Amino acid sequence: MKKILLSTLVIASVFTLGLTLSSNANGPGGNRTGSPGSSGNCGSCHSGGNFSGQLKVGIVEIGDTIYITSYTPGKAYEMFVKINGTSSKMGFQATAVNASGSALGTYATAPTGTNTYNSGTKVIWGHTSPSSTGAWRIGWTAPAAGAGTVTVYSSCILANGNNGDNGDQVVVGSKSISEATSSNTKEISKNEIIVLGNPTKDIVRLNQSVLSMSIWNQSGQMVAKSNNSSECNIQHLPTGNYYLQILKNNHKHELIQLSVK
Ligand code: HEC
Repeated sequence: MKKILLSTLVIASVFTLGLTLSSNANGPGGNRTGSPGSSGNCGSCHSGGNFSGQLKVGIVEIGDTIYITSYTPGKAYEMFVKINGTSSKMGFQATAVNASGSALGTYATAPTGTNTYNSGTKVIWGHTSPSSTGAWRIGWTAPAAGAGTVTVYSSCILANGNNGDNGDQVVVGSKSISEATSSNTKEISKNEIIVLGNPTKDIVRLNQSVLSMSIWNQSGQMVAKSNNSSECNIQHLPTGNYYLQILKNNHKHELIQLSVK
């Protein structure tokens, strides 16, 4: 009697698991990223809703939210998909490819609620259970030198939660990131001063403290200054290009071009 009960239980749970895995809400499978060669995007099935959805997608420094515009070959970054909108049930797929549509970079283990898998020449990263925050990150290491421009494509939905493909909003986006060439990824010597994260926002940070930092606009006016610090506050500066003049501890000057976002 016990035996029969047990096997019935096992069959019942396998059946439930099978249903869960094949549900579209837990990721449609295939390639629906909207990238070249994909089988369309989420909008091939979903439509009809409006949740003021906006999508941002691309590559960021680890833990950061600012999308980079050029990558250093072989460096570890994160792929970051972010939906803004009023839905509390969101899903996505994303992929990083080169101009001919082949996968670029390597993905870290997918965080909970997402997975990665191969689809043709691409690696697809997508949700396995819908998210209420609409923000997903995964470790992504840039390809070796010579791979060229990477484009990240993503297709997402902001669902109404009716467990159907109607009444949902589809948002798609992409971002191209160029390969940094050796001329702009120069080696840093021990005493050299570098600006961390140029183009920069709110605060200019150096890798070391200096006698003074002064920032000049294009018309030659000094617009910000700090003394004996490795930082200078530039929160008040409008977007644009500036010069950062550094008075080093050895009383020598250095001039660096600065772009403020
Ligand atoms: C081939 C058709 C098809 C495609 C393409 C598709 N879906 Fe779906 N999706 C469905 C169907 C059908 C349902 C409802 C039934 C279910 O949940 O299995 C659904 C349900 C969902 C739900 C739950 C919706 C709700 O209102 O409760 C989410 C979230 C979802 N899909 C995300 C996505 C995302 C993200 C994509 C694109 C990357 C996508 N789907 C592409 C067919 C599709």
